[in-house]
Amino acid sequence: MPTLFELSDIHFAYPGRPPALAGASLTVTAGERLALTGANGAGKSTLLQIMVGLLTPSAGHVVAFDQPRRREADFHEVRRRAGLVFQDPDDQLFCPTVAEDVAFGPLNLGMDRAAAEHRVRETLDQLGLSTFRDRITHQLSGGEKRLVSLAAVLAMKPDVLLLDEPSNGLDEPTTEHLVTILDNLPQTLILVSHDPHFRTRLATRTLTLTHGQLTPTPNRPRRGSHEQRGAAPLNPAGEAGGLPRPHHESKP
Ligand SMILES: Nc1ncnc2c1ncn2[C@@H]1O[C@H](COP(=O)(O)OP(=O)(O)OP(=O)(O)O)[C@@H](O)[C@H]1O
Ligand SMILES: [Mg+2]
Repeated sequence: MPTLFELSDIHFAYPGRPPALAGASLTVTAGERLALTGANGAGKSTLLQIMVGLLTPSAGHVVAFDQPRRREADFHEVRRRAGLVFQDPDDQLFCPTVAEDVAFGPLNLGMDRAAAEHRVRETLDQLGLSTFRDRITHQLSGGEKRLVSLAAVLAMKPDVLLLDEPSNGLDEPTTEHLVTILDNLPQTLILVSHDPHFRTRLATRTLTLTHGQLTPTPNRPRRGSHEQRGAAPLNPAGEAGGLPRPHHESKP
């Protein structure tokens, strides 16, 4: 399987702050679903932003889609092929309506308006969000915004999805709905999540960010995906999914 991202010995500090990343290395292979975890403030969101060139490391190398990426121009292709769903949906959504927010990416990629509108319909249908099409984005609830953020990125059909705490603030049925959606996506996934249940359901591999570095973390056994698909409801506003919650949370 081809390597999509290779980060070597990444260092990064925000101005006047201690290092957030201090020798982080990471390889992402096509088709995998990699979970990243670590304490609040460990640097997970920073790492995702470095991967798509929104932040520049002070040292280390980023190779993405077989090319070294250093300058801003190097990352234009990366951002077309790797879609980052931000931790805060308000960083993602800035248009008056849901349809405009979801159309923004496809239009920005050069799609004509009719094709972009088709892509909006298709993506909202895929996520069970068709009824949100004409809603005013800033009037959506936090959980609704989170799903619309995912739609806005999926509408660009990236090769890789980088999801920063995608289940944060979602109720249990909506989380199950999200797991089902993500489990059925063909894309390579990089999932930042504090939720061990969510990680177990989706991730093929987990890395923990501690002291600015990534180390492998044993995954708890993953359930068969046929079981997940059979059990999870497909209605974001629907009834409780009824899947058992984990009995305890093991520290990463
Ligand atoms: N714009 C910024 N300016 C200064 N410091 C920042 C900025 N953004 C983040 N930090 C700091 O950098 C460190 C890493 O932050 P980051 O958001 O990457 O952590 P995280 O692992 O994503 O945390 P969380 O689990 O809470 O989302 C934290 O100490 C944070 O306070
Ligand atoms: Mg974060």
